[in-house]
Amino acid sequence: MELNNTANQLPVPRIIELPKICDPRGNLTFAQTPDHVPFDIARAYWLYDLPADAERGGHSHTSLQQLIIALAGSFTVNLFDGYTWRSITLNRPYRALYIPTGIWRTLDDFTSGSVCLVLASEPYREEEYIRDFDQFRQYAANRQPSL
Ligand code: TYD
Repeated sequence: MELNNTANQLPVPRIIELPKICDPRGNLTFAQTPDHVPFDIARAYWLYDLPADAERGGHSHTSLQQLIIALAGSFTVNLFDGYTWRSITLNRPYRALYIPTGIWRTLDDFTSGSVCLVLASEPYREEEYIRDFDQFRQYAANRQPSL
């Protein structure tokens, strides 16, 4: 899937390939700023013990940027910029999804044992969430498409 929209200046969601150091003892992947993470990491959190029918997310952010990595298993990230929906399946621990500000996202289709790591550009701050979909649509109507 093509996620790179270069028609405008907004940062756009994109897949970032991370280094993979293959080793008979087991593989190793890392992510560091600024080579792979386009922001300073202020927080990490992870989702685990996820029921297959769970839906996470369901919000946007007015200032937060994130990198999402499927550390184990697989899940789908559904992105909406106010104009277009795009779905991306993450299923490799060396492939990260960058999500800039202003994108509505939901996560679903979690496989058993899946673990979702999120690297975030800011500490948790509820004030910068948009959790109401209609409110997001109004916010997004003032922005350029980015999907
Ligand atoms: P929530 O935003 O619903 O998770 P998601 O949308 O990613 O599925 O967060 C669930 C609860 O956890 C909510 O009460 C806020 C809290 N929370 C924190 O306290 N710190 C954090 O870093 C995050 C991501 C959530």
